[in-house]
Amino acid sequence: MSSFCAKVFPTEPQAPSVKSAIPGPKSKDTVTDIEKHFEAKAAYFVGDYSKSIGNYIVDADGNTLLDLYMQIASIPLGYNNPAIIEAAGSKEMINALVNRPATGNFPSADFDSQIQRLVKYAPHGFPYVWTALSGSDANEWAFKTAFLWQADQDRNYAAFTKEEESSSMINSVPGCPVRSILSFRQSFHGRTFGALSTTRSKPIHKLDIPAFDWPTAPFPALTYPLEEHQKENDEEEQRCLKELEETIIAWKTKSPVAAVVVEPVQSEGGDNHASPKFFQGIRDITKKHRVLFIVDEVQTGVGATGHFWAHEAWNLTSPPDMMTFSKKAQTAGFFYGNPELWPRQPYRNFNTWIGDPAHIIIAGKIFEYVSENNLTASVQRVGKYIKEGLLKFQEAGHISRLRGVGTFIAFDLPTPEARDQFTAGARALGVNIGGCGVRSVRLRPCLLFEEKHADIFLDVVSKLFSK
Ligand SMILES: Cc1ncc(COP(=O)(O)O)c(C=O)c1O
Repeated sequence: MSSFCAKVFPTEPQAPSVKSAIPGPKSKDTVTDIEKHFEAKAAYFVGDYSKSIGNYIVDADGNTLLDLYMQIASIPLGYNNPAIIEAAGSKEMINALVNRPATGNFPSADFDSQIQRLVKYAPHGFPYVWTALSGSDANEWAFKTAFLWQADQDRNYAAFTKEEESSSMINSVPGCPVRSILSFRQSFHGRTFGALSTTRSKPIHKLDIPAFDWPTAPFPALTYPLEEHQKENDEEEQRCLKELEETIIAWKTKSPVAAVVVEPVQSEGGDNHASPKFFQGIRDITKKHRVLFIVDEVQTGVGATGHFWAHEAWNLTSPPDMMTFSKKAQTAGFFYGNPELWPRQPYRNFNTWIGDPAHIIIAGKIFEYVSENNLTASVQRVGKYIKEGLLKFQEAGHISRLRGVGTFIAFDLPTPEARDQFTAGARALGVNIGGCGVRSVRLRPCLLFEEKHADIFLDVVSKLFSK
C-alpha cells in the first residue's frame, strides 16, 4: 500500500544522493555573489527550491538531501506540496499579492474569510487573532498588548492624563511606564528589539544591543527519560515555580511583570521539556498575580509535537491569555480569547500591513490540510518509531538525553564539537539536520515524514557512529 507521502509526492526520491562536498562549488560561488550585496555568513548551502520535493531538499550543486531541518522547522507539508501550490496560484492569492492592503486602514473584502480560516484551527477558547510578519514580530505585538492591557487596568480605563501624554514624548514615566516581561533562562523569543530582551539562549544574539532590565526565572533542568525520573523532576519543577512566583512578587515594586512568556519546549535553547504540571503552575501563579500568560508556539505550533498546538496537551484550568505562532503556519501572529485585550483606541497596535494576507491564505490551507489528513496522529506514530530507533544509539553510549514529543525530538552528543561534527557528517551523507543549545541535535522534519524516511536517517546515524 502506498503511503500518504508517496501519494502526495509520487516523484519524491527514494534516497539522498550526494555528488559533491556540502557546500559544493556552486553553493560557494552563489554565496560569494550574494555577499556582494547581502551578509550571508550563516549560509550552510544554497537551495534549489524549484527541484526540492517532499522531504528532500536539492542544493545548487544537485545534491539531494533528506531534510530533517526544514528551513528551521518552518516547512510543514514538504517542499512543493501540490495543495500549497494550488493555493498559491489562486485568484485570491494574486489579489493579495498585487494589491497588498494596509489591513488596519483598508482591510480587503476577503479578509474576514481569510482570518476565519485561521481561527477555525486556533486552540480552544481563542476566537481572536492578531496577525504579524515573523515569530519575533508576533511576540512583540503580544508583549505590547500585555502592556496596554495592564495600563488600562491600572487607570481603570480612564482617559490619558496630560502628564501621561507629555511624558510619553520624552520616553519617561508615567506615560512610558516601568513594566516588564518575564521570560525563562535559555528561552528564545526572537531577535527584534523588545523580543530580544526576553531571549536568553545565547550571548551572540544579545551582545552590543541595549536591553530592557527584565526578570528571568529558571526553566526546569529535567532528567530524561521523564517517566523514569518523576520524583526529582517534580521537585525541580516546584523549585522553578517557587522562584517564578518569588520573582514576580519581588519585581512588583521594581518593574511589575505584565506577562510571563514561555515556550512549550525551549527549542533554540536546547530542546528543554517540562511537564504539563509545570505549565499548569505558571497558569495558576500568573492568574493569582494578575500577570498575563503568553505561550510562544512559534516553533512548537502546527502539529510537530503530535498536537496541533503543543499546549493543548497541558490540560490547563484556563487557557493562556495569548499564544503566538509563526514558522509552520507560514504566517505569524497571536491567538487570544479575551476581547478586553483589544486596545481601547485605534493605532495602539497598528502598522502598515499587520501581517500579510498572501501568507494568511497559505496558513489557512496548511491548517486545513493538517487537520483533514489527521497529520498529528501520523506525527505521533512516526515520532515513536524514530525514538525507538535512536534508543539503541543511546544504549550504546553514542548519544544521551534522548527526548521529544511527536517528531519534535532531540538528543545530545558529548561535546559541542562532537555535535557539530555529527551535523556536518550527516549532511555529507545526505541528511540535513540542525543543532540547538550547546551540544544537542534537534529533529524538525515536516509533518509528512514517515517511517521510510526515518529508516534512512537512522542508517546515516549508524554510519556516523561506526566510523
Ligand atoms: C520559540 C520561538 N520564538 C520566536 C522565534 C522568532 O521567530 P522569527 O525567527 O520568525 O522571528 C523563534 C525562532 O526560532 C522561536 O523558535
